Amino acid sequence: MALFKTLDDLPKDLTGKVALVRVDLNLPMADGMATDLTRVTAVAPTILELADAGAKVLLLAHFGRPKGQRHSTMSLSMVQGDVERVLKREIMFIPEVAGPVAKQAVGILSAGDIGLLENTRFWPGEEKNDPDFARGIAVLGDIYVNDAFSAAHRAHVSTEGLARLLPAYAGRAMQKELEALEKALGEPETPVAAVVGGAKVSTKLDVLQNLVGKVQHLIIGGGMANTFLAARGVDVGKSLCEHDLAATAEAIMDAADDKGCTVHLPYDVVVAKEFVANPPSMRICNVHEVAEDEMILDVGPQAVEALGDVLKTCRTLVWNGPMGAFETQPFDAATVALARTAAALTKEGSLVSVAGGGDTVAALAHAGVAEDFSYISTAGGAFLEWMEGKELPGVAALSA
Ligand code: 3PG
Repeated sequence: MALFKTLDDLPKDLTGKVALVRVDLNLPMADGMATDLTRVTAVAPTILELADAGAKVLLLAHFGRPKGQRHSTMSLSMVQGDVERVLKREIMFIPEVAGPVAKQAVGILSAGDIGLLENTRFWPGEEKNDPDFARGIAVLGDIYVNDAFSAAHRAHVSTEGLARLLPAYAGRAMQKELEALEKALGEPETPVAAVVGGAKVSTKLDVLQNLVGKVQHLIIGGGMANTFLAARGVDVGKSLCEHDLAATAEAIMDAADDKGCTVHLPYDVVVAKEFVANPPSMRICNVHEVAEDEMILDVGPQAVEALGDVLKTCRTLVWNGPMGAFETQPFDAATVALARTAAALTKEGSLVSVAGGGDTVAALAHAGVAEDFSYISTAGGAFLEWMEGKELPGVAALSA
């Protein structure tokens, strides 16, 4: 991994300096209220460290996808109270990101004060990474700090452009994330296992193609395992399956063979005739015994035990996606059991475990192990792009 500067590279006293800090405040909302403040909690240490060193801190973030126009429902003023509660400090909301109003607001702030600039995506220049828009924001600050890994797959002004105009540093959350990811796939201790689950192969083709060249064990679960089973000639009944991707699945398995990566598919499965909680038709069977009118909804207990044994031989695990239809009982069993094995091995110190992406955080929290993994990323798209082996523009700009 290329080197990047952190807050440790800044002087202890930042009085008189203005820090532009990119955070991810794209919070999940229901009825106008944030339902989860994890992203705010994650960036609080960076904000407080800079403010306590005497900097004026200006928070930059996007909120939703307003496509270059002001929308009152996507104003960052909606989350000002949440940020204040987490930081336990008052902050000033600034309804602009550049220009005279923003400049005047910065003038009003004292050393150690925190300002929250308006949603950067209200201006078309943000997503276009427009140099003029970038310069307009850059003149407000002396340094740029990026603490938003989850937005680092976007080459926007607030994630990329500003890093090219001001001395740029990774915030504490970004630093922690990059260090954890480096341990998982950059220079990991081997053997490495990857668990990739979720409904569809089509959304994770690049992830699988990248992983077969990097890990020794690829454990495929969720609906996407059905596509691989079907490609191997298994009749998966009426299971969710992308039959048109059979050749792609085969190619991935061939590439894995060539590269010394073992692909693990379930050999027993939990099936049912209808997808509801605790269906009467539910049964466990060998993958070769799935009836025409049955669908696979989870990995079976024998396969889960064998996969647990695989994890016991590994030193590093990277996990994305659930093993079964985990939101519906009891099809959460394989995800919960394997997650608990991984958590126990992590606690013993024999496994470095990193997980992330959309459903994964919810699945691991449901298994009660969110605290026991070495690192859980709350990034969605950025985590997937990292698993695809892509360079994230926001990270690349910090390393430049
Ligand atoms: C996220 O919520 O995953 C990030 O904030 C990125 O949001 P975006 O997909 O709208 O760029």
